[in-house]
Amino acid sequence: MALAATFSRFGYPSCKPNAPAGRYCCYHKPPPKAAAAAGNGVLSLSSSWRCRSTPREIMAGAGRRPEKKDVADEEEEWRSYLAPERLEVLRQLEPWVEEHVLPLLKPVEASWQPSDLVPDPAALGSDGFHAACLDLRAAAAGVPDELLVCLVANMVTEEALPTYPSGLNRFEVVRDATGTDTTAWARWIRGWSAEENRHGDVLNRYMHLSGRFDMREVERTVQRLIRDGMTIHAHASPFHGFVYVSFQERATAIAHGNTGRLVGARGAGDAALARICGTVAADEKRHEAAYSRIMGKLFEVEPDAAVRAMAYMMRRRIDMPTACINDGRHGAGDFYARIIAIAEKAGTYTLSDYRCILEHLIGQWGVKELATGLSGEGRRARDYLCALPNRIERMEEKAHDRATKAQKKPTRIPINWIFGRTISV
Ligand SMILES: [Fe+2]
Ligand SMILES: [Fe+2]
Repeated sequence: MALAATFSRFGYPSCKPNAPAGRYCCYHKPPPKAAAAAGNGVLSLSSSWRCRSTPREIMAGAGRRPEKKDVADEEEEWRSYLAPERLEVLRQLEPWVEEHVLPLLKPVEASWQPSDLVPDPAALGSDGFHAACLDLRAAAAGVPDELLVCLVANMVTEEALPTYPSGLNRFEVVRDATGTDTTAWARWIRGWSAEENRHGDVLNRYMHLSGRFDMREVERTVQRLIRDGMTIHAHASPFHGFVYVSFQERATAIAHGNTGRLVGARGAGDAALARICGTVAADEKRHEAAYSRIMGKLFEVEPDAAVRAMAYMMRRRIDMPTACINDGRHGAGDFYARIIAIAEKAGTYTLSDYRCILEHLIGQWGVKELATGLSGEGRRARDYLCALPNRIERMEEKAHDRATKAQKKPTRIPINWIFGRTISV
């Protein structure tokens, strides 16, 4: 998983531990501009970050009290996703998951390991290891600061891995209830987590050896992020959850892929780092294939529920799991907004990427072609989704104008991860 250029999100429970229910969490109250955009599924890159703490507030839009009818509709909608007959559909899909999803995991014996991608003293011997480390440091010396910051954001997101399987294990039916369940769903969650575990490890190891980062500050960021956790709008619904992870895995693949291309291309380039990023991105693509295959199946067997779930998630925007990211110098919400702006400017993950992912999923799941089996709400969801990319495109133009203006008056902020050096945002 990695950074995304979107906001809103993470509704309930509040993503700050111990925050009172029904109150804004660590991102505090959204600024008026963002509040106006809430609920339209369109994103802005320049606003401060925020997270609303209840689905009621989200549905109603920030700044006004939810109507009783909205609340009742919302609760009814969630009940429908957790109804026994709908969950039975997931149960019935288990043999299909066995046949079509589990093969997307690679056996341990065929998997790359972090030791394959960074100098390994056991393989190189003392002198060889020392020489390889010097080479690594020399190549890393040319990577610009803004890409270093994007790399940390990518790495920290991966290192918060314990949060993600626990998220999947909140979904009904598909969860791994005992920790060693033998269902295809449970084996997928564990196998996926095991593959993901290597991503943070390899990035962490590269960063440690490169000497370009204040690793203690990075490590504190990871600890804070895991402590603060995350939540998505999926509640316990696998339909909503699989929309999120399908989007998220593709976003992550793009972020790692772009980072790899950029660090490999600048100046002399850091080919070793580019290779690491590319290797991680390839895993993310495989994971995306699995989750979007599952969601595609749900579109096939339950099109109305699937399209409504997708619209629900997009209305709240799909955000990366790092909204609580904090380098120890800035407030979490503000810092996330800064990181988003840095990623946009550096080109590792942009608003345009977000739109392209949405367009891809709309095409992959045949959203435009949905006709039969849709309720009135399902048709509205389909139409909303099909119109959304154009709305985002208009936002891209505005964001571009804002960025051009901002370039004339750049703000520089210090970031602890790179020893307090400043980055232009
Ligand atoms: Fe992933
Ligand atoms: Fe990952």
